[in-house]
Amino acid sequence: MVGFLQNSPEDIATAANLLTSGAVVALPTETVYGLAAHAFDENAVRAVFTIKGRPLIDPLIIHVAHREQVERIAYTDNPILDTLAQAFWPGPLTVVLNKKSCVPDLVTAGRNTVAVRIPKHPLAHAILKACDIPIAAPSANPFGYVSPTLPEHVADSLGSKVQYIVDGGPCDNGIESTIIDLSQDHPTILRPGPITQQQLEDKTGITFNTINKQQTVAASRGEIAPGSLYKHYSPTAKLILLDDALMDASHSAKPDTAYVSLARTPRYPELASNCKHYWLSETPDNLAEIGRNTFSMLRKLDKAGIKTILFEKPPQQNLGVAINDRLRRAAAE
Ligand code: TXA
Ligand code: MG
Repeated sequence: MVGFLQNSPEDIATAANLLTSGAVVALPTETVYGLAAHAFDENAVRAVFTIKGRPLIDPLIIHVAHREQVERIAYTDNPILDTLAQAFWPGPLTVVLNKKSCVPDLVTAGRNTVAVRIPKHPLAHAILKACDIPIAAPSANPFGYVSPTLPEHVADSLGSKVQYIVDGGPCDNGIESTIIDLSQDHPTILRPGPITQQQLEDKTGITFNTINKQQTVAASRGEIAPGSLYKHYSPTAKLILLDDALMDASHSAKPDTAYVSLARTPRYPELASNCKHYWLSETPDNLAEIGRNTFSMLRKLDKAGIKTILFEKPPQQNLGVAINDRLRRAAAE
């Protein structure tokens, strides 16, 4: 039986004690729910990989409460890091830095770098502060499936494999953190996320490298950082991303087909009348709301037994870049 912990001083202390003593606990963050374990406890970290069914070659992000804890695990003598930390921590930004030897190889999959972030979610922050240890936490979903943005998503897909879930309600961003690599000469965005390329470049005054599709396919073969796997975040239903070229084929939609539009007013009204119609937001330009609802929509449609999802893509700008990144991977064959 899974136990739910709430936002109370007693439950925060319980979660912190569980983590310190080597238990695995699902925690809310502002991005998605994480499956958390004491980063220096190899048994606990191994349990995280096992529960997720995640290959050991895929490294975990370490979460900490304060900048000083970052110094404990990584080399931080980088002016870009200072600028970004000041602007975006606590928050949905993960940085890859050269690691210190205290970080177990299991966490970093044998790499000489470690990914670290300071989450903003008040409950995550309170628990990290109370336990005062670095916490390794991937998203709390079975490997390759859609990330959880509600506590019940964690319970639904991990079931009794996880004993404790801290209930922090719905995640604010609904999309995983932006990951940037600061371990090389020039910074690279490894995974687009809630902190956009524009925000990173505005703050630092430099242009960031990005990784392209060819590199993400290479990542799937284990050649570069696995953080960029090409197929990922996939629902069980077949996901088809809509563009105008696809419209003719989609008109013959069946009853177990859902059409997800960005806004209540659909871009393709005929599809809305032929399929079960769902929408992500009241207006098509509310990217924060569209991002917040994307993963939970995919899970909801899987749960409803929908076989095919026709999904309207958000504009490729600001947060839309990260949402499209997840949708492309979710739709990949
Ligand atoms: O928003 C988030 O980042 C959430 C919450 C829970 O913090 N976590 C998350 O973790 O999305 P995960 O494990 O699902 O995705 C982290 C990605 C992985 O794909 C992993 O390959 C990549 O980060 N990663 C971790 N350490 C890395 C490293 N040292 N170098 C390159 N990529 C790394
Ligand atoms: Mg994940």
